[in-house]
Amino acid sequence: MSLAIKSQGLRMTVNGEPVELLVQPHETLLQVLRERLDLTGVKEGCGEGACGACTVLVDGLARRACLTLALEADGCSVLTVEGLADDQGLSIEQQAFIEAGAVQCGFCTPGMLLASHHLLEQNPRPDEAEIRRHLSGHICRCTGYAKIVEAVSNAAARKRGEEPS
Ligand code: FES
Ligand code: FES
Repeated sequence: MSLAIKSQGLRMTVNGEPVELLVQPHETLLQVLRERLDLTGVKEGCGEGACGACTVLVDGLARRACLTLALEADGCSVLTVEGLADDQGLSIEQQAFIEAGAVQCGFCTPGMLLASHHLLEQNPRPDEAEIRRHLSGHICRCTGYAKIVEAVSNAAARKRGEEPS
């Protein structure tokens, strides 16, 4: 007897564009974003929820794409790092990361940016402890974190229309 697994329809919005495709029930959101939609800004680090590199926003909430089944995103709006910039250029967070020197190899950066974006949507004036707490599930092997915290703090100030201190 064959135990063929049936594909199922998935509809979601990714970076503002409607997407419709057939996926297997066991496919992760990470696999669909990277391998089917070619959104390779979504990084696979550990593949088991420990590093934060695969973080995307699903209906505005930060989710680990490696631990999220693609079908869980059915009907949802997904934001990846590719959707942060717009026609006007890089997002305030992206610009702040560059200016603060918060990017070295860049592997952790998409997840850090989306987590930062999520934080600043919730709290426009986070202090250093809040920024560190919010990014605590994100591993960076290069920067030592200080520049990343500085970048998020600077981005928060810019978003409030203030000059970073
Ligand atoms: S790849 Fe998903 S948390 Fe590490
Ligand atoms: S910049 Fe290399 S892992 Fe963070």
